[in-house]
Formats: sequence, structure tokens, C-alpha cells
Amino acid sequence: MRETTDKRHGQETRTKYGNREREIYGNSSIMISSFSYILSATRDHRPRGSATVQIISVINLKGGVGKTTIALNLAATLADQGRRVLLIDADPQQSATQWAQQGPAAGGAKPGALPMPVMSLRADDGAPQFKTALDQFVQAAQATLVVIDSPPELSDPALVAALLSDVVLVPVTPSPLDLWAAQQAVETAREARTLRDGVKPLISLVPSKLVPHTVLARDLPAALAALGEPIAPGITQRVALIEAIVLGQTIRAYAKTSPAAAEFTALARHTLRRLTR
Ligand SMILES: Nc1ncnc2c1ncn2[C@@H]1O[C@H](COP(=O)(O)OP(=O)(O)OP(=O)(O)O)[C@@H](O)[C@H]1O
Ligand SMILES: [Mg+2]
Repeated sequence: MRETTDKRHGQETRTKYGNREREIYGNSSIMISSFSYILSATRDHRPRGSATVQIISVINLKGGVGKTTIALNLAATLADQGRRVLLIDADPQQSATQWAQQGPAAGGAKPGALPMPVMSLRADDGAPQFKTALDQFVQAAQATLVVIDSPPELSDPALVAALLSDVVLVPVTPSPLDLWAAQQAVETAREARTLRDGVKPLISLVPSKLVPHTVLARDLPAALAALGEPIAPGITQRVALIEAIVLGQTIRAYAKTSPAAAEFTALARHTLRRLTR
């Protein structure tokens, strides 16, 4: 079992996370040492010889809550603002990768016309492999900011992403059923925080697919407040976001002055503020 130095939680934490290590990696000592590897890696996730890299991951164990839509448009918004961004598609469904590969035949932007590279990287291949490959992608792209789009359902990739991240964004749709999934995602990120230094990753809840003027949208902030984490500016449900994805474009390329693009500017501002805290 990993010899943790977490003094805040003492033996109880050692036992809990010893069990968690076994849950994630099984009982083999090789796998447990893998877990130690990812923990030490997270304490310095800057690739050798490059500037500081900051990592934002978008996690929610529930499908269809807007993770990919948020990850790719947030990444693109930050890239358009002059940041050197890399979007990592950690979802085996490859939604972000497919979006990036939409070509002129689909009426979309030319391949390569996106403001940031999109690289596919399976988080369930194991934490050390993920970290090593991520370092290589970051160096190749000379990226200073990474956005990770994570898969639904599997909690381990979400934990791996959270362990590496400075900020975890948890999209939450205004459905009571989705709040439980959001709670799970928040707990995953908090688990990563406890396993690290007790400070990172920071967590922000992102109201997602909001339908204006509905009771559910109105009540969401109060429901989210119960999760005890800061609430980011929300993303409204808009056809323009779907149209942009169909065309393989970012919302800023498709409709730069749209309310949807403005919402992503606000989300980018919130996220950058959190990165500097
Ligand atoms: N703000 C929005 N407005 C309109 N449609 C949206 C919005 N956000 C997401 N969608 C649509 O909802 C569906 C699910 O969105 P998305 O793929 O981003 O979710 P996800 O959480 O990444 O899903 P998965 O868990 O399957 O990866 C897609 O059809 C997407 O176009
Ligand atoms: Mg997705």
C-alpha cells in the first residue's frame, strides 16, 4: 500500500485509499506501484523542458451532459484568445476527434483549420501510459494549456484526468436525475484532491444545456449550491452549438458574435480565473 504522508486524515485515509488503489488497479504490486507513479507524476505534471502546463478536465460519469461540447468549445475559445491549447480526447467514443476530422465534404472547416490540435488518448490504458503520452503530446504541440474531454460511465479515466488537473469542470444538466451523477463526479475530483495535496484540482460546476425560462433552469443554481463547489457561468441549450459541431467547427468560427460564443467566453474567463488561484 502506498505510504501516504497525508497527515490530515491519518490512518483512516491510508486505509481508505489503500482500498481504493486495489479497487482501481487490483491487488498486483505492479498495478499498485503504477498508482504511486501517477500520484508522484501529478505533483509535477510539467513536461521536461517546457513551460508550465495547466490542465483542465471536463468530467461527469453521466453520458450526454455536454462534456464534449464544453471541452471543445472551451478549448477553442482559449486558443482563439492566444493560449497554446491542446485538446485531449480521452473518450473511446472519439466524439471530439470525429468533430475535429469533419472535412469540407460535410460542409465543415478544412481539417487543420481548428485553433488547437485534438489528440486521442485512452485514459483506461493505465495512468502511467496516459501521463507519458500526454507529456509527449504537450511537447509536440508546445502547449501551455490542456483540456481533457473524458468519457462517461467509467470512473477510473475520470479519476486519472482529475489527478492530473488543475481545474475540473463538471457539467450538470438541469435534471434532478443528473444531480446524483454530478455528485459522483465531484466526489471523484475531491478524491483526486485528497490523494494529492488537498488543494488541486479545483472544481467548478458548469450548468449545461440550460433551457431558459423553465422551472428546472431556475432551480438549478440552488440545487448545485448543495454540492458545495463554485458554479461557473452556464451554457444554454442552443441549436447553433449542434450546427457548429455538425460542420466540424467551433462555435466561434460558426457564429462568433452569437450568445452561445459569448457564454463560452464567460466560461473561459471563469476557468482562467480559477487557474490563477
Ligand atoms: N448547450 C447545448 N445546446 C444544444 N445541444 C447540446 C448542448 N450541449 C450538448 N448538446 C448536445 O447534446 C448531446 C450530448 O452532448 P455531448 O456529446 O457534448 O455530451 P457528452 O457529455 O460529451 O456525452 P458523452 O457522455 O456521450 O460523451 C449532443 O448531441 C450535443 O450536440
Ligand atoms: Mg463526450
